[in-house]
Amino acid sequence: MDLVLKSFELAAENGTDITPLIYDKYFETSPESVGLMSHIDDLVRGKMMEEVFRLLMVEDYQPEAEYLNFEVKNHELAYNVEPNMYIKLLDAVRLAVKDAIASDWSIEYDEAWRGRIGDLTNEILNRSNKA
Ligand code: HEM
Repeated sequence: MDLVLKSFELAAENGTDITPLIYDKYFETSPESVGLMSHIDDLVRGKMMEEVFRLLMVEDYQPEAEYLNFEVKNHELAYNVEPNMYIKLLDAVRLAVKDAIASDWSIEYDEAWRGRIGDLTNEILNRSNKA
C-alpha cells in the first residue's frame, strides 16, 4: 500500500483538521508567503489544500500533466509564486501529517513522503520558468 496515502488516512481517522496546521507551519518557514496569501479566505485555502493532497496521493504524474502545466503557470504569473515556496509548502504537509499521527509515524512513512515530495517537486520545477 502507498504509505503516503496510508498516513493521510491515519491523520483523517484521528479527526485532526491538518489544513490550519499546514498553513501555520508553512508561514513559519516562508514568511514571504504570508502577504501573498493574506487576501485568501479559509474556503479558498481549503480548496487549494485539497488539490495539494490529491497531487501528493498520486503515484504517476503523467495523467496530471495538463493540470500541472496550468497550475504552475497560473501560480507563477498571477501570484508570483517562487519555486522554493512549493518545497516549503509540501514539507509543511509532511510535518503536519507526522504531528497528526504522532507515534504511528515511522521511518518508512518518512521515506515514502520524501520520495513523493521529491517527485512532485520535480514535476513542478520542470514546469517553472523561475527554477
Ligand atoms: C502543489 C502546490 C499547489 C497547488 C496544487 C495549488 C493549488 C491551488 C488552487 C487549486 C487554487 C485555487 C483555489 C480556488 O480558488 O478554488 C490556488 C490558489 C492560490 N494559491 Fe496555490 N497551489 C499550490 C501551491 C501554492 C504555493 C506554494 C503558493 C505560495 C504562496 C500558492 C499561492 C496561492 C495563491 C496566492 C492563490 C490565490 C487565490 C486567489 O487569489 O483566489 N499556492 N492554489
